[in-house]
Amino acid sequence: MSRTPLVSGNWKMHLNHLEAIQVCQKLSYELARHRYDRVEVSLHPPFVDLRSCQTVIDADRLEFKLGAQNCHDQSHGAFTGEVSPAMLAKLDVSYVIVGHSERRALFGETDEFVAAKAAAVAKAGMAPIVCVGETLDDREAGRAAEVVTTQLQGSLAKLTRAHFETLVVAYEPVWAIGTGRNASPQDAQDMCATVRQVVDDIRRGTGQHLRIQYGGSVKPANAQELLAQPDIDGALVGGASLDPTQFARIVQAAL
Ligand code: 13P
Repeated sequence: MSRTPLVSGNWKMHLNHLEAIQVCQKLSYELARHRYDRVEVSLHPPFVDLRSCQTVIDADRLEFKLGAQNCHDQSHGAFTGEVSPAMLAKLDVSYVIVGHSERRALFGETDEFVAAKAAAVAKAGMAPIVCVGETLDDREAGRAAEVVTTQLQGSLAKLTRAHFETLVVAYEPVWAIGTGRNASPQDAQDMCATVRQVVDDIRRGTGQHLRIQYGGSVKPANAQELLAQPDIDGALVGGASLDPTQFARIVQAAL
C-alpha cells in the first residue's frame, strides 16, 4: 500500500503575517530546486497569517497546502476568541491540527473535545491531523502504548467511516517536543505501527491507508532515518519548519 508522505510545518506562535509571506516565498525557492511531487507539504501558520499565506500560495501557485493549528468544534456562535472550521475552509485550509499536546497540556483540551473538533474539521471538508503522544513519565512507567491507545479511542470517537479516509494521525511523544531529543527511529516505528493497528481496530479496514506522522525534534539530520520507517508516513515539524532551508531538507528526506 503506497501512502503519499505528508510533511507539515507547525509554526506555533511564531512569525507575523509579513514574516510568514517571506517564509512561504523562501520555502518555494528552496523546494523549486527539487522535484517534490511525491510528497505533500502543509504549512500551519498562526490564524492571523492565514489570509496572507493563502494569497501568496494562490498568486504564486505554490505547491504547498495551507493548514491551521487548531479550531473550535462549533460552526459559529458566542465563543469569544475562537475560529470555526467553516471559516478555515473558506481560506482554502486543507489540514487542521487538533489535540496538539500543547493544547492538551496548556489549555486543558480533553479527548472528548478533540474528538468533537476532529469531526467538525472533517465535516467541513478538511482533513484533521489528530495528535497523540505520551509523556516521559508514561514512557518510563511502561504505559506509552496504553496512553496513546486511550487517546486514539477517545479522540477518533466521533469520526464516521468516510472521515477516516482523510484522517492523519501525528504521533508526537511529549518528551521529544522542542527538546532536541527525538524518539529513536525504532521506538517511533513501533509506536506508529501500534497507532495503525489501533485505528484499524476502531474502524476495520482503515489502518492500511492511514497516514501517520512522527513529530518531536525532527531535524534535517534525523529526518531520513525516521521517514524511512515503514509505518511513518511523514513528519510534523515545529522549530525546524521556521527555517525554510532546514524545512526543505526535511521535505527532501521524505522523497
Ligand atoms: P519540534 O519539532 O520543535 O520538536 O516540535 C514538534 C511539534 O510539536 C510539532 O507539532
